[in-house]
Amino acid sequence: MDFYDEMLDAISRDAARRGVRADEAVFQKFLDRIVPDKVSAAPPAELRAQTSRLDSVPVAGTTAGAIDAAETPPAGAATPPSIPGDWAGLRSMTLSCRNCPLAGSRQNVVFGEGNERARLMFIGEGPGADEDASGRPFVGAAGQLLDKMIAAMHLAREDVYIANIVKCRPPGNRMPGEDEAAACIGYLKKQIELIQPEVIVLLGGTALHFLLQIDGITKYRGRWQSYNNIAVMPTFHPAFLLRKAEAKREAWHDLKLVMAKLGIAL
Ligand code: URA
Repeated sequence: MDFYDEMLDAISRDAARRGVRADEAVFQKFLDRIVPDKVSAAPPAELRAQTSRLDSVPVAGTTAGAIDAAETPPAGAATPPSIPGDWAGLRSMTLSCRNCPLAGSRQNVVFGEGNERARLMFIGEGPGADEDASGRPFVGAAGQLLDKMIAAMHLAREDVYIANIVKCRPPGNRMPGEDEAAACIGYLKKQIELIQPEVIVLLGGTALHFLLQIDGITKYRGRWQSYNNIAVMPTFHPAFLLRKAEAKREAWHDLKLVMAKLGIAL
């Protein structure tokens, strides 16, 4: 996203939080307020510097009707200040989210589920048709395999927390777009912050890409990574394992590393 898109995105999210609709005219008003000579798409270096300084200042509260640059987080920020820090607030904001076009085609927001104090968290890509219909993560064919993987680790679904990079179904099960993930990932990051799991298992390349900004599940699976001091194990997505059964051996290898890290005997 370029600067223009980032600002538009931040303003849209801010407007959604206030329950109003933001569009490019609002953005232009914002620019008019902060840039005297009405710079449009590319702000001067001076403004870029000012914006990034403001981004690092935490600001509590809002001024009604005003758009406060200090309040708008950079796209993809770990925990945008506007996202509530408690489960009830987070759930309610997520369930009513309309920050990206996926809101228009979803049946249900798939918030995530499981033990809010889980030691182990699984993160997938995004809801499929079954998850969209039920509002629950990993309940279709891939979910049944995930249940078996969890059971093989001597755990139950209730012991772990299961979530996705995006909480609404991308039509046709396509990968979430960069903008869709950027609009949504703050909710996931807040869930991680609330749960504080000891280990996160990233299911597939899309989760790897959007949480850690690295690409290549075949390269990275089975190799410990880190997210905010939490150990992260990338492995194959169960939907991939359903198509390529011989890769299950590698996925099991990865899960055994996770068991060892959590002190679970084989
Ligand atoms: N695939 C995912 O990545 N997530 C789900 O919740 C279901 C299928």
